[in-house]
Amino acid sequence: MVEKRVKIEDVTYRGSGVARADGKVVFVRGADVGEEVVVDIQKSTSKFDVGRVVEVIEESPYRTCPHCAYFNACEGCAFWHVTYGRELEIKKSILQSELKKAGYFGKIDVEPSQNEIFYRNKLKLTYFDSELGYISTLTHKRIPIKKCKLADESIITALKKVTTYLNSHRFSHLKNITFRSFDGGVMATFLFDKKEEFVLDDVLDFPVFLAIGEVLESDKTKIFKAFNQKDMCYTLLGEKFPIDAKSFLQVNKNVAEKLYEHVITNVNGEKVVNAYSGQGVLTKLLAKNAKSVVGIEIQRSSCEIAEKIKAPNMKNINARVEDVLGDYLDADVVVLDPAREGCDEKVLCEILGSNIKKVIYISCNFATLTRDLKVLSKNYKIENVKLFDMFPRTASIETCVILEKI
Ligand SMILES: C[S@@+](CC[C@H](N)C(=O)[O-])C[C@H]1O[C@@H](n2cnc3c(N)ncnc32)[C@H](O)[C@@H]1O
Repeated sequence: MVEKRVKIEDVTYRGSGVARADGKVVFVRGADVGEEVVVDIQKSTSKFDVGRVVEVIEESPYRTCPHCAYFNACEGCAFWHVTYGRELEIKKSILQSELKKAGYFGKIDVEPSQNEIFYRNKLKLTYFDSELGYISTLTHKRIPIKKCKLADESIITALKKVTTYLNSHRFSHLKNITFRSFDGGVMATFLFDKKEEFVLDDVLDFPVFLAIGEVLESDKTKIFKAFNQKDMCYTLLGEKFPIDAKSFLQVNKNVAEKLYEHVITNVNGEKVVNAYSGQGVLTKLLAKNAKSVVGIEIQRSSCEIAEKIKAPNMKNINARVEDVLGDYLDADVVVLDPAREGCDEKVLCEILGSNIKKVIYISCNFATLTRDLKVLSKNYKIENVKLFDMFPRTASIETCVILEKI
């Protein structure tokens, strides 16, 4: 084990401390600016080292004792070592420096999460050696997980039951299991790369789906068996939404509601296009304040749910945004909520060439957000930026940017 004593000078966009030692940069998980720490180097290249804290010599005033037993090994979280207030400060400054690249130097409002832990309605764990857990990207070590402090209580109960079940059942083609909670219940989806015989045990007394495919949230993935099926709903802002095992849903209910509220209060009787609309949650909420709203979503199964909840002034299009957006740009407002990859350049160019007055851009990846804002800034000015802390303890940042035509 190689150890180095370093002084933390900065924090990276992934939440790690940055130090310098022996002419190299050292990235230190679980260390705050100003701290002096002893680091166990886990990965070393000619330019940088990556390590974890083994001893804190000089503490940050914000240091707290990590309340997660897996924090040192599992890379899912970044901020168990500091107070929640400090975590929000770090996230805001990461977003501030990023948005400067798109020419934005204004204020950023921050909406904290009501719950810092037990907030996730979804947990995906990899299957290995009859256990569930994470695989470290740094050390490639398998880390069995018995409890994740981000997941809500019903998921932890279901995880315990599945763990018991896995003690007596071995699978050859099981890749991962995704748990999702909904109003008054929880479901688990077992994703296989090849169909496999499966005998259900009494211990699994909640809806269980068996799917075959690459990624769960895809039309190519097929659910080939369902046990204990029942109607599953998720209530957001007082509206009940039917859900299924494959469609997208924001993971933090309280923050999702605040985000949607923020978006819909920025719409007032206009014609709206909601691009990347998922299963229609935001489209349906927008329909209340808009003259009309068109949702565009690539995933067929999500569009089918959106069709079930359709308001009279709401339309759902099952297509790629880049293929059809041009047909709907006689609107006043565009709401963009793309996946991590951000928007296709064609989408941004079409908005630039249109008469759209307002663009509301929701993003879970500030790097692609900044890239896309640079393009939009030719014709649009950033009027408001708000950070929604959808993912406490992790380095992920959810942002909503409102742009108006110059
Ligand atoms: C971050 S989710 C947003 C969902 C929705 N706005 C919500 O709040 O529930 C992104 C959605 O974009 C969809 N998507 C990804 N690429 C797309 C594309 N090129 N065209 C249309 N939809 C796409 C995904 O299937 C996913 O449902």
